Amino acid sequence: MKETIEFIQKKIRDFKPELGIILGSGLGDFADNIDGVRIKYQDIPGFETSTVAGHKGQLVFGEVLGKKAVIMQGRYHFYEGYHISRIVYPIKVMKKLGVKTLIITNAAGSVNKSYKAGDLMVISDHINLMGVNPLVGENDATLGDRFPDMSEVYSHALVDFVQKKGKELGITVRKGVYAAMSGPSYETPAEINMLRIMGADAVGMSTVPEALVANYCSMRVLGISCITNSAAGVHPSRLSHAEVVETAAKTKDSFMKLLMAVIEEI
Ligand code: HPA
Repeated sequence: MKETIEFIQKKIRDFKPELGIILGSGLGDFADNIDGVRIKYQDIPGFETSTVAGHKGQLVFGEVLGKKAVIMQGRYHFYEGYHISRIVYPIKVMKKLGVKTLIITNAAGSVNKSYKAGDLMVISDHINLMGVNPLVGENDATLGDRFPDMSEVYSHALVDFVQKKGKELGITVRKGVYAAMSGPSYETPAEINMLRIMGADAVGMSTVPEALVANYCSMRVLGISCITNSAAGVHPSRLSHAEVVETAAKTKDSFMKLLMAVIEEI
């Protein structure tokens, strides 16, 4: 960690990010227009290289609407084969760099039958069904407690704020529970039924490890999902990554608008 932080600080000098943003599938180009320092994951000591199509794999340090931010353009997924502790390493790095608020975005399938592809959903809570917890192992007490509380992983104030902003902008923002599966296979219709019974509204393969660790590190967390498809069994059609990326791209404009409005006042 010391080596990672020293490496990054040599590049960004006295820039101190307070806001962290993780860009999910199809949203990566949000960071393209930001004037700042870009560091590829593969060049950072302690980071892995990201492999999924549609994900770039770099940290971007710069100002977004006057807020000092570090943006993850692309993220690590558990299904890529990394140890779960490697997936959340960038979150711990953000914490050490001074980040106080983390905005996490993702693409997700709708479990809730009233949701439609193209909807945005602010995450009110999550269910971790990945089968692993990123905090397993030795605890670093400088970051957080051994047994951290998880009763408000996603800031209720930020959830309300996003819904208010959505209304002002005329963008429908659902509020729901995100269930995380390990992937990489999509779910079966029976699994989606199970998730619905459990109280999930959306399903995806990311976000939960990062949100969990950010909360452990006492960061304020906001999660927003782009609903890219109906989950398995809701409609007779088959699921594909191409559909996920395509819908995310189509929804990008309203997603960015909402994101910018939120960042402006965060
Ligand atoms: N299931 C899991 N992950 C996803 C989905 C889905 O239907 N859509 C986008 N990410």
